Amino acid sequence: MKRTATGIATAGLIGAALVAPAAADEIKVGLLLPYSGVYAALGTEIDAGFVLGLDTFGEDAGTSFQIVREDTEVKPPVGLAKARKLILQDRVDVMAGIVSSGVLAAVRDVVDGAEVPLIVANAGNDIATGEACSPYVVRVSFSNSQINRPMGPWMVQQGITKVYTMAPDYAAGRQMMETFAESFTAAGGEIVGADYTPFRKTQDFGPYLAQAKASGAEAVFAFYAGGEAISFVKQYDSFGLKADMGLYASGFLTSPLYVEAQGPAAEGIVTSLHYVPTLDTPVNNAFVAAFEAETGRTPSEYAVAGYDAARALVEAAKTGADGGAALAAALSRVSFEGPRGTLSIDPATNNVVQPIYVYETVAGPEGLTQKLLAELPPEQDAPNGCEMPTN
Ligand code: BEZ
Repeated sequence: MKRTATGIATAGLIGAALVAPAAADEIKVGLLLPYSGVYAALGTEIDAGFVLGLDTFGEDAGTSFQIVREDTEVKPPVGLAKARKLILQDRVDVMAGIVSSGVLAAVRDVVDGAEVPLIVANAGNDIATGEACSPYVVRVSFSNSQINRPMGPWMVQQGITKVYTMAPDYAAGRQMMETFAESFTAAGGEIVGADYTPFRKTQDFGPYLAQAKASGAEAVFAFYAGGEAISFVKQYDSFGLKADMGLYASGFLTSPLYVEAQGPAAEGIVTSLHYVPTLDTPVNNAFVAAFEAETGRTPSEYAVAGYDAARALVEAAKTGADGGAALAAALSRVSFEGPRGTLSIDPATNNVVQPIYVYETVAGPEGLTQKLLAELPPEQDAPNGCEMPTN
């Protein structure tokens, strides 16, 4: 991979047409990710997964791919400006990426209006596959509800009934905590308090942790990712809370991407997620080996989302789909067996349908690792106001 001063890189000339139907000679992909800011590491990881996915599957696509990268900086107005630039100036055929739910909300209308398909490779904003769904927005990662909904009843089954919730104050934090609270209380649990911490600005979680401690909760349920996840987990431990109040979360909190930076503070945290690198399946073992060979590190949920986004693009290109509408329609029919298990897109919402895993972060012989506690059935979101136009 070569990154030039203009931010343009090619993934190599991948694949000459063999038996695939006629497709575009080259597909220009706008990779819209945070390469700076609080989610920079997540963006770089999705990028690595995406490039590996094109390298692995691209040969069958019957076309070559060119990548143009843009940095959202995790800021909605910047993400919007970069999406416009990719569409109007670079004239990309498709876009992939987006980490933050806030950035996804900002770019949704421009993508829909321009009829340029967007393969969402992280941002879980429920509304993007709910009331603001679009035929041009196809998500292969997860929705914020999907990850957290199953944790409510699961925690009640483990005997936990009083919980305090904490998350950053933006769409992802609010949607994740609201969904968890709904399913937890429906199963008989009680939310005894909640805090939303200023997003991208909170460095000291102390005042919030003190309130959680005083609340009488048996456990905290949280969502944090990237740099905020590292600080939160370390401070939770150093405040001495872990012994008295178990820490549960959506699995981004203890992602393999930064769990080593959290160190022993992450041990014993129990979370739910759509991917765990310790899944012992032939497809996942092959992916883990290939990613490790390429990058020297264990793949995280961010890597797998990039990898699956590339594979979804290749599957759609293989149909010979040419033009935004045809490519978007082909993307919404994608289904395959990937590292995380069986993945399919629900054409009613364009959100992914997939199993959810509950895992505990434990010490292993080579550092921290993920112990699988439960595989929960495939989770499919309700349409939530999505009325997908029929082509
Ligand atoms: C989000 O903003 O949707 C998000 C960001 C990081 C991890 C998970 C979700």
